[in-house]
Amino acid sequence: MLTILDRAWAVEGIMPLTTYKDIKNLSYIDVGNKYYLVEHIQDYIRKYRENSGAYGIYSHGKLVGAISVTDYTTMSIFDKPLGVDYINPVECSIIQSIVVDRKYTHKGYGTKLILYIIDKLIKQGKKWLYADMIDERLLPFYEKIGFYRLYNNIVVKHIA
Ligand SMILES: CC(C)(COP(=O)(O)OP(=O)(O)OC[C@H]1O[C@@H](n2cnc3c(N)ncnc32)[C@H](O)[C@@H]1OP(=O)(O)O)[C@@H](O)C(=O)NCCC(=O)NCCS
Repeated sequence: MLTILDRAWAVEGIMPLTTYKDIKNLSYIDVGNKYYLVEHIQDYIRKYRENSGAYGIYSHGKLVGAISVTDYTTMSIFDKPLGVDYINPVECSIIQSIVVDRKYTHKGYGTKLILYIIDKLIKQGKKWLYADMIDERLLPFYEKIGFYRLYNNIVVKHIA
């Protein structure tokens, strides 16, 4: 039988976040907006629990990153149209927040979170994934995963 310690070390990979207690302990790189990122994810977990669209990535039992994704129709971050006229908003999702603990950045966790989400969204019939980069410096991160800049800080990837 696993002890609590064994179980903690056994927790690896990505899973839905149904509690927000660990998230507030994540620390970040210097983009500011710490509370903006955390509160978005926390709010979603509070409101929707297992349907929050929030997922955590764990390493050795520790939460090292989190992502939350929502439907385009529930959140309008756009001051311009979706980019291509024929896009159906129902087929679009938005990365609401993504954050990796600064002690764990550049190890691929952020990319893993996004690829995991993309796989789930494709199964749900989604075709486009958007993100609002809160910082210009994040463009290379999104570009490496195949996003392109639509305008300003909005990036998009065709996922299906
Ligand atoms: C953006 C973020 C999620 C990336 O997570 P990550 O686990 O470090 O990403 P990965 O290891 O999968 O990818 C790393 C690549 O992304 C780019 N990248 C990651 N963080 C970057 C940063 N702060 N500035 C510039 N490029 C960055 C680099 O090209 C990097 O490649 P490299 O490791 O070969 O240099 C993480 O830096 C973070 O939490 N930032 C603070 C919160 C934030 O800005 N969130 C986005 C807005 S919602």
